[in-house]
Amino acid sequence: MALILGLESSCDDSAAALVDSDRRVLAQAVVGQNDAHQPFGGVVPEIAARAQVEVLPGLIRQVLAEAEKTVGEIDAVAATAGPGLIGGVMVALLAGKGIALAAGKPLIAVNHLEGHALSPRLVDPGLGFPYLLLLVSGGHCQLLEVRGVGDYQRLATTIDDAAGEAFDKAAKLLGLGYPGGPAIEALAREGDAKAVPLPRPLLGSPEPHFSFAGLKSAVQRAVASGTHRPADIAASFQQAVVDCLVDRTRRALSSSDSPTLVVAGGVAANEKIRTALADLAAETGKEFAVPPGWLCTDNAAMIAWAGAERLGAGLIDRLDAPARARWPLDEGAVTVRGAGVKA
Ligand code: KG4
Ligand code: ZN
Repeated sequence: MALILGLESSCDDSAAALVDSDRRVLAQAVVGQNDAHQPFGGVVPEIAARAQVEVLPGLIRQVLAEAEKTVGEIDAVAATAGPGLIGGVMVALLAGKGIALAAGKPLIAVNHLEGHALSPRLVDPGLGFPYLLLLVSGGHCQLLEVRGVGDYQRLATTIDDAAGEAFDKAAKLLGLGYPGGPAIEALAREGDAKAVPLPRPLLGSPEPHFSFAGLKSAVQRAVASGTHRPADIAASFQQAVVDCLVDRTRRALSSSDSPTLVVAGGVAANEKIRTALADLAAETGKEFAVPPGWLCTDNAAMIAWAGAERLGAGLIDRLDAPARARWPLDEGAVTVRGAGVKA
């Protein structure tokens, strides 16, 4: 049994957690920065990095105290080393390096996306490799074959915005707060998903890639027209995203041998999206797994768990491991036309 301290600071959440290789979450804490970014309708990197420096050390002390552990009792430190906002990424990584050096413990430099990708295995011991993963977050929208720890094949990505980014932009257009996903989901409950005709970009196209920019522009026009209730726009927008995710995932499943469909990342906290993908799995004869909501949005338990998996596979890092703003899970994936920086 190994005890891992996990640290996360790659975007607008500061988080620390203590997780063991027997899947016990001994303690975990997440502090978001929503209030700080709210006036700007999105994350401001400088504000995010400064807040990480202020908050993370206290969270590390907090989880150690809660679990009644000292750094001497942990077996490794797992810190997110990217991808993300570089000023923030450096905070957890440098803290992790400091603790690793001072306590003489191994450092595991975790890819944040691998944290999301392996998160369902923390709560589901029966989930084996391989599985087809729909990874939907604020920065990414990808379909990947997860073949094992550190072994990923990207099948598709977004050619413009990520799914969470689309939720955040639509929310901003509707005058809702940041992050947009939970705000849209709440407002959509009072709306009619068929009321506003919106496009489903790339629906039916042969490769399972995603696109959401055209949907955002259509929301912009619907808002500007002044003829629709905001709740109807929110519900129609959410349904359009659901339809795109289901269609693209169905396409990927049609050529996948994996027995299980898994959804992870912040957008996987959305009830309609969880249900629609569970239905798709049932329809296509696949098992289905999705982590609980707290494990979908950014947290450090998933980083600690990825650390436990990597430690188990003998994958530890040197103390000069770099912080990386960009870090694809599948380094060999070809760049998709139009994918820009989100490839
Ligand atoms: O995984 P995550 O916490 O951070 C990144 O790694 O990006 O994902 C954050 C994204 C945000 O865009 C947020 O609006 C979206 O996940 N999100 C949701 C919901 N909760 C969070 N989107 C739709 N419905 C939700 N309930
Ligand atoms: Zn994330």
